[in-house]
Amino acid sequence: MPDPPGGRLTQAAESYASLRAGRGPNALLAQAVDLLDGRRGRALDVGAGPLNDAVHLLRSGFAVDAIDTDPHTVELAATLDEPGLTVARADVRTYAVAPEAYALVVAIHVFPFLSRADLRRAVPALAGGLAPGGLLCCTFLGEEDAWAGRRPRMSFLARAEVEALLAPLQEVVFSEQRYGGVDARDEPKRWHVHRCIFRRP
Ligand SMILES: C[S@@+](CC[C@H](N)C(=O)[O-])C[C@H]1O[C@@H](n2cnc3c(N)ncnc32)[C@H](O)[C@@H]1O
Repeated sequence: MPDPPGGRLTQAAESYASLRAGRGPNALLAQAVDLLDGRRGRALDVGAGPLNDAVHLLRSGFAVDAIDTDPHTVELAATLDEPGLTVARADVRTYAVAPEAYALVVAIHVFPFLSRADLRRAVPALAGGLAPGGLLCCTFLGEEDAWAGRRPRMSFLARAEVEALLAPLQEVVFSEQRYGGVDARDEPKRWHVHRCIFRRP
């Protein structure tokens, strides 16, 4: 694995952040930035991991708050010289989201790691962090994902369940994708992903 920008992470165990640092942003996040049509301000990246999306947000002109439970994320942030970036080791299930503070809230590939009960609390809390007209950009895994049935602590949702979670917001993008790809270690995996961009009215 190449070292991330700024140097080697010192934590012993590997994590998503340590495996994937130094890559480009998720295409859904880039689409959400374009949909904001030049509007900027603060963005919140939840489960920010390797900070690839946070760096794209900074380059696009946002001030970025990023949270993750993984200590690698904080360690990685310390190697970046980014005054517009604030990173905290924090759990989205207990994080106090600043109300109506964000033009964009990003949660890419993190909601599947929460239980349904936690999702029913966390998703509305994150939606409450959106300023009027702000966007929530997020993904969920579907019931046909290869991990469904094998990872009981994770959530695999039907489209209707995702729509119910996001109901107070207006749908801008909702695509459901099934495809063969790779996991964080580049091992083959069948994916079933709901890709969502929703707007606060
Ligand atoms: C698959 S990675 C995705 C990282 C990043 N969003 C991306 O797309 O590159 C999931 C991330 O969510 C973090 N995570 C999992 N549960 C979390 C929680 N309850 N609160 C905050 N972060 C969490 C993990 O540590 C990991 O960095």
